[in-house]
Amino acid sequence: MTTKVWGTDDLGRSVELITIQHNLFEATVSDLGAVLVSLKVPDKGNRQRDVVLGYDTAVQYFNNYETYFGATVGRNANRIENSQVTIDGKTYLLEANEGQNCLHSGPNGYHTRRWEVKERSASAVTFALFSPRLDQGFPGNLELTVTYKLTDEGLEITYTGLSDADTVFNPTNHSYFNLNGQGSGTITHHRLQLNASSFTPIADEKSIPTGEIRSVKGTPMDFIQPKEIGEAINDPWEQLQLAKGYDHNFAIDGVRGHLNPVARVEGDESGIVMTVLSTLPGVQFYTANFIQDEKGKDGAIYHSREGFCLETQYFPNAMNTSAFESPLLEKDVLTTLKTAYLFKGESHGNV
Ligand code: GLA
Repeated sequence: MTTKVWGTDDLGRSVELITIQHNLFEATVSDLGAVLVSLKVPDKGNRQRDVVLGYDTAVQYFNNYETYFGATVGRNANRIENSQVTIDGKTYLLEANEGQNCLHSGPNGYHTRRWEVKERSASAVTFALFSPRLDQGFPGNLELTVTYKLTDEGLEITYTGLSDADTVFNPTNHSYFNLNGQGSGTITHHRLQLNASSFTPIADEKSIPTGEIRSVKGTPMDFIQPKEIGEAINDPWEQLQLAKGYDHNFAIDGVRGHLNPVARVEGDESGIVMTVLSTLPGVQFYTANFIQDEKGKDGAIYHSREGFCLETQYFPNAMNTSAFESPLLEKDVLTTLKTAYLFKGESHGNV
């Protein structure tokens, strides 16, 4: 484990870059936002490649409200319609940052705060954050932690939340992956398999789900059998046109409360295979549709479709949609959520 001072926050406190390692895995994270800055994994030739998009400087992460590269998003990932939620009969107003709606908890996200380093070892780091009552508009004093841990198989991200009043707890990690290596071009030839037989269609280009949970069968959303991400991405199909590609929530098949398989993705050139597992019910699959000439790590310039996100979460706008499982965290109940991004190069056999 190595640490390095990376910059200072607006209170003059230093922020650090922390690198953890295990076998041929290496992850760099920061107490600035508990962001994942880089993730190096072995390819088919056992050469390490950094498979997540990101920035070189702390300043770019303090302003990370367009791309959300590597972000720990909270309290609520994704969109809340009209920026309001009702909890125990009381309506709470959140801050709108996408028209009338609230995206990724508004303009004061956890991913730009300075977190406390609670525990660190050679292969794991735990960050803690205290989010006071009415922070971002939500009720309840919330104590949360995020742990990044490298194992023999890859990266595990574990979240815990404890609040003194009923609140929303729906964190996610917003990393953009490119399994051929960050900055190496399009991800449209990656093969994706999604363990989701249904998705939540969006009403219009504002991307709020209609409330329907619709079968993927016979549509470009069907990734039950592996196919290239780009195979149907430009089809003249309303849902893809509204979002300019994939930017939709899929309902993960599996048993609620279990660590269910979510996805398997194969880098076409590197041979790197990533499997995603999660205890959460949904995953936002996003193909970086809105990225344009974004200056990234090591001189890379990123464009649309040069990374993909698999943001595990409760369904978008679930607090306002009766058909969707609620992300309500009950008062005084400690909750744990977990997502794992596991890797195997071709030389390591199949996952
Ligand atoms: C999520 C959203 C996208 C976009 C990105 C951030 O993935 O679903 O529409 O806002 O975050 O750029």
